[in-house]
Amino acid sequence: MTEFLFQRIPAPLLSWYRANKRDLPWRENPTPYRVWVSEIMLQQTRVEAVREYFARFMAELPDVFALASCEEEKLLKLWEGLGYYSRARNLQKAAKVLVNFYGGEFPRDLRALMDLPGIGSYTAGAIASIAFGMPAPAVDGNVFRVMARLEENSTCIADPKYRRYLEEKLSKIYPSSGEDCSAFTQSLFELGALVCKPQNPDCAQCPLRDICRSNANGTQALFPVMPEKKAKRQERVAVFLIETPEGFCIRRREAGVLRGMNELPSEVLQEEDTPEKVLNEWGMYAFTEVSRKKYVHIFTHIRWDITCVWVRADSAPFDTYTMDEIEENISLPTAFKQCLGIWKEV
Ligand code: ADE
Repeated sequence: MTEFLFQRIPAPLLSWYRANKRDLPWRENPTPYRVWVSEIMLQQTRVEAVREYFARFMAELPDVFALASCEEEKLLKLWEGLGYYSRARNLQKAAKVLVNFYGGEFPRDLRALMDLPGIGSYTAGAIASIAFGMPAPAVDGNVFRVMARLEENSTCIADPKYRRYLEEKLSKIYPSSGEDCSAFTQSLFELGALVCKPQNPDCAQCPLRDICRSNANGTQALFPVMPEKKAKRQERVAVFLIETPEGFCIRRREAGVLRGMNELPSEVLQEEDTPEKVLNEWGMYAFTEVSRKKYVHIFTHIRWDITCVWVRADSAPFDTYTMDEIEENISLPTAFKQCLGIWKEV
């Protein structure tokens, strides 16, 4: 029964895709490099936001060689605001492997792709099918949603068995020609994004409506089954805009979330801590507070309740940069970048 259901997917889905697909920059000239970079970006951000990041990234780092030899700070600046900075670092690690061991070419082999840093079965499947026309599925959140509704599958999407199950089932129904393989992978993404949406799916427009069990039974809202959401840990954080005659302090984070990234000097506050106490601990006693403002930043597992404090001092406990340098050359994660608002709003 299920086999039959799966076999009925490709034909209507492919014709729907050809008539309805969006013009997206990474769909023009889908080289493995462009597919790879776009997929890593799309894992964390909406399609609309990725357009701009993708265009900038390709203009600055047009190929694997440029990425492999790029300065880390430049790479992180191109990634600024996307979050999950380890993904950008992994891109560069993988680019170095490609340059050093594969002459700058991507291997046409799923296992070899998955051996590259930061490339799992999803990204490998996307590169193999979209760029190389191989019959390799790429199961992302869209695909889980479409497929779970189609057969009313109540396996939790966090269960690794479910991903393997879908990869195996989908592999069997992949088209044989290269261009169709590329289109089939993207048609599943596209259906999930445009029709089989998380809320209020547009079932009347769906090319698979006649075979979809959720559509027949009105159970769309029950699928896919998601893992239970854990409550986020809450932290009180003081972030300092320390202004000196030479500029503003920036330092590198040594621990915790965003380790290795630049920051406006900051500290998680324990219960009895105050921002002043933190400054004293850094050897700062002579400073004037200009203003303070509250911000919130939500990470995957943590919520930061930030008090941003702008102080002026004659000397700095950390390296300083002018605001122009910070804006042009220093990559600052969004949690800190938003705190620059305190300075801009004056
Ligand atoms: N979501 C994930 N990958 C995508 C792609 N290549 N195009 C559109 N949406 C996507």
